[in-house]
Amino acid sequence: MTARRARLRAASLVLALGMAACGQDPPSMLDGRGPEARSVENVWWLMFALAAAVYVVVSGFIVVAIVRGRRRREDTEPAKEPKDDTFIWFGGIVVPVVILAVLAVVTIRTTQELRKTEPDELRIEVTAKRWWWDVRYPDAGVATATEIHIPVGRPIDIELMSDNVIHSFWVPELAGKVDTIPGQRNHLRLEATEPGEYRGACAEYCGIQHANMSYLVIAEEPADFERWLARRSAGAGVTPASEQAARGQVVFNREACAGCHAVKGTPATATIGPDLSDFGARQTIGSLTAPNDSATLARWITEPQRMKPGNLMPPTALSGDDLAAVIAYLEGLE
Ligand code: CUA
Repeated sequence: MTARRARLRAASLVLALGMAACGQDPPSMLDGRGPEARSVENVWWLMFALAAAVYVVVSGFIVVAIVRGRRRREDTEPAKEPKDDTFIWFGGIVVPVVILAVLAVVTIRTTQELRKTEPDELRIEVTAKRWWWDVRYPDAGVATATEIHIPVGRPIDIELMSDNVIHSFWVPELAGKVDTIPGQRNHLRLEATEPGEYRGACAEYCGIQHANMSYLVIAEEPADFERWLARRSAGAGVTPASEQAARGQVVFNREACAGCHAVKGTPATATIGPDLSDFGARQTIGSLTAPNDSATLARWITEPQRMKPGNLMPPTALSGDDLAAVIAYLEGLE
């Protein structure tokens, strides 16, 4: 077992109690997969080590006091008056001040390091919505939602915004937390050193669906990422592959769908709901609320308020044929 693994296991034990209620394996900030996440992790370990040392020393003094007190009662000898208060000054003031000063310096330095911009960083705009995440690559003219594709080994600058209340963007394995604040543009810098899917959550209570506001950061090899971006940029999937999907496109643009959603390269350009240009390639519906399959999509279109109460999508009544056609169209967008 490597030292890193051992530390991870120790920390998992400490945290097990608090996370017992969560069921599935939660992403851990103690399992950093990029330089930013690792520097946050290092601060955590320093804090943990200092707190543990204080705990052990104070516990030791308590044990000594108990044992001495009992012995004295047995001897019935009067308590000794402490000779001076050096111990209190040292343990009560000097040591805490030193510990807090060390933590302050390390924290400020780490924060400054995390804010540094890099020359070749990739810009991504992420806007918190009710309750999902709008994702844009301004330099490529690409829009998507919930799944944030990034290339491995390249610094990413995420510009965070909100068009409603305050949310917080947190992908524990890649970086620290940054709030999204209406009327303000915050920046979060991160980099993934290994390909993979990293789960993110909203980390600031924001309303009834706060818990159903997750997302994925999908880190790919640079070539795979470039291919993905080029495909999205070209508006792949716009020409429906089947007759049914083509009819679905007509229904989509005629009915309420196009009033809120956009599909690149079609007359649908609204920005109220998630951009659906690559909907068929996404793993989930409603920000990781439900899996993306035909049956779930049918339910989502007809009764979205039962699946995710409070979200801004109204129920859409479609005939059986129209519904099937719209589903075929959306699933073909990939
Ligand atoms: Cu968005 Cu909590």
